[in-house]
Amino acid sequence: MSRRVVGIACSPRAGGNSDVLVQKALAGAESACATVELIAVRDSEIAPCQECNACLSSGECPLDDDFPEVLEKLLACDCLIVAAPIFFMSITAYAKALIERCQCLWARKYVLRQPLFPDQQRDRRVMLISVAGTRSEQMFECVTLTLKYWLDVVEMKHVSSLFVNQIDARGDILKHPSALDEALRLGRNLVTGPQPPDKPEVVRLFGGLPDETELPGENST
Ligand SMILES: Cc1cc2nc3c(=O)[nH]c(=O)nc-3n(C[C@H](O)[C@H](O)[C@H](O)COP(=O)(O)O)c2cc1C
Repeated sequence: MSRRVVGIACSPRAGGNSDVLVQKALAGAESACATVELIAVRDSEIAPCQECNACLSSGECPLDDDFPEVLEKLLACDCLIVAAPIFFMSITAYAKALIERCQCLWARKYVLRQPLFPDQQRDRRVMLISVAGTRSEQMFECVTLTLKYWLDVVEMKHVSSLFVNQIDARGDILKHPSALDEALRLGRNLVTGPQPPDKPEVVRLFGGLPDETELPGENST
């Protein structure tokens, strides 16, 4: 049966660098006969968690917006490709809001003790894509940690990460064919490997554009 792959584009910029990469990765998955779908979170209305704690007793989020529709796809898919550029050393607010709203899954799992997939052990996999304007590899630490914690909640295994530094203006990524090739390859591998690896494959690339921005916390040269 063909695997269902959902790409989640978390940049506010349509046609931006991470959008291009997630589309490439989906094309790679599709070339391995997966069924693919792209969700751009900027096109949905998803508020951050309000910490009302209603989900701790119901397992459901009472907020009335587009989250349930996205959650349904997130739970139904076999593989996710999360594309989140770095904003202030972290994921974008769009990505963060979606992740925070999964607190209802955390409540189901750890408070209400309701298994997410009661009848079956699911092989669910994730590829992470991130791009950053500066050259510091530290930029991707926060996104990796956030993803790790979230994947425990949504019961998915981190298979690969594609991190590209020194990519800033819209379309810069198109001048970087090796990043496009890697996105395609990792997208394909996401669905073809018989077993998810014990450790994610991490590909780090540099755009080679001039880096004029020194941000606090940067220590690589
Ligand atoms: C609000 C904002 C914050 C940013 N913060 C960082 C940052 O902390 N570190 C960095 O390397 N790049 C930072 N960038 C640059 C983006 O990561 C970069 O432009 C990236 O290519 C955007 O990807 P996109 O085209 O997919 O949106 C920031 C950009 C914006 C707009």
